[in-house]
Amino acid sequence: MPGISGPSDYSQEPTRHPCLQINAKEPFNAEPPRSALVSSYVTPVELFYKRNHGPIPVVDDIERYCVDISGLIEAAKKVYMRDVRMLPKYNVTATLQCAGNRRTAMSKTRQVRGVGWDVSAIGNAVWGGAKLADVLELVGIPKLTSSTQSGGKHVEFVSIDKCKEENGGPYKASIPLSQATNPEADVLLAYEMNGEPLNRDHGYPLRVIVPGVIGARSVKWLDSINIITEECQGFFMQKDYKMFPPSVDWGNIDWNTRKPQMDFPVQSVICSLEDVQSIKPGKVTISGYAVAGGGRGIERVDVSIDGGKTWMEATRIQKTGVPYVADHISSDKWAWVLFEVTVDVTHSTEIVAKAVDSAANVQPEKVQDIWNLRGILNTSWHRVHVRVGHSNM
Ligand code: MTE
Repeated sequence: MPGISGPSDYSQEPTRHPCLQINAKEPFNAEPPRSALVSSYVTPVELFYKRNHGPIPVVDDIERYCVDISGLIEAAKKVYMRDVRMLPKYNVTATLQCAGNRRTAMSKTRQVRGVGWDVSAIGNAVWGGAKLADVLELVGIPKLTSSTQSGGKHVEFVSIDKCKEENGGPYKASIPLSQATNPEADVLLAYEMNGEPLNRDHGYPLRVIVPGVIGARSVKWLDSINIITEECQGFFMQKDYKMFPPSVDWGNIDWNTRKPQMDFPVQSVICSLEDVQSIKPGKVTISGYAVAGGGRGIERVDVSIDGGKTWMEATRIQKTGVPYVADHISSDKWAWVLFEVTVDVTHSTEIVAKAVDSAANVQPEKVQDIWNLRGILNTSWHRVHVRVGHSNM
């Protein structure tokens, strides 16, 4: 593709913030310290987790860069950055979460395969760009379409990076056409993150943002869009990011028995304390994030200071001065809430958080019950141990 290329080695990687904890160097996979996530509602770009499957693409001529839209449509079209920028611009505040968030904790139960992540493979950003529904109108697909006349039912996004899982081919994924053409689903072709042009790590010059859905579907460095009959047949849709029951292992897995994972389930994590953390007895403020997929709000966050025997409700915050009400017009439906509660801790204990979404879905208690061989979607109650010391600490 003119204007952009995918290198085959790591000699042209961007510089990154020294605070990031590196989980894999090449491809670069890193997350911020958990405390950074509760410092602000919108996560600063440099502290936002980075999840890559190959070297970061290089743009050498932004004027020539374009997205090829083709497949089961009447006429294929090349869409340039100027075409995307001419469409109405939307700023959507949305939380992006990798399906592998909290994988390390799941692997402690039983081994799983995949990059290890602590609790920070997640971030909340303001994504600026055009709605995919408007872009698809440029190729004659009206809003709220579930099938094109020639039978296209899925929208495939293809990147330019070289991934070993695709035998050196690009990363790709798809979403249903009905979601892509629904303006309310807020699927974006984003060119900005937190008011700045996307940086290279996060998909410069153009990426997809699919709010409420696992991060794997938000394809970075978009190269082409294909309108196709079936879901994308790429590795990351068919041989990865599927949720299997605990009975399935590498000996008996049949990938075709499960659909690619889309929405993420309700999640919450304590970020103000490490596990294990030493504290002095007395008042402790516990804070963290809670988020639900599919645009559902967070109805409640419960915190326990006795390992889950008794609970108290935390306050939920999105924007200062605006009380958070789940699913209300004033709330950012695709974004996390930060929660906070002050408790009195007198002795060493286990502090636990669990969230409830607006459909009354609640996080499962035990990681064992949701263990799966790829270690995805660990949304079990989040636990941290505190050691209370009475001497000088
Ligand atoms: N897009 C491309 N082209 N290549 C990738 O490796 N990783 C996906 C998704 N889009 C990926 C991609 C995954 S698994 C996640 S979780 C998000 O991007 C991470 O986005 P971020 O690095 O901007 O946080």
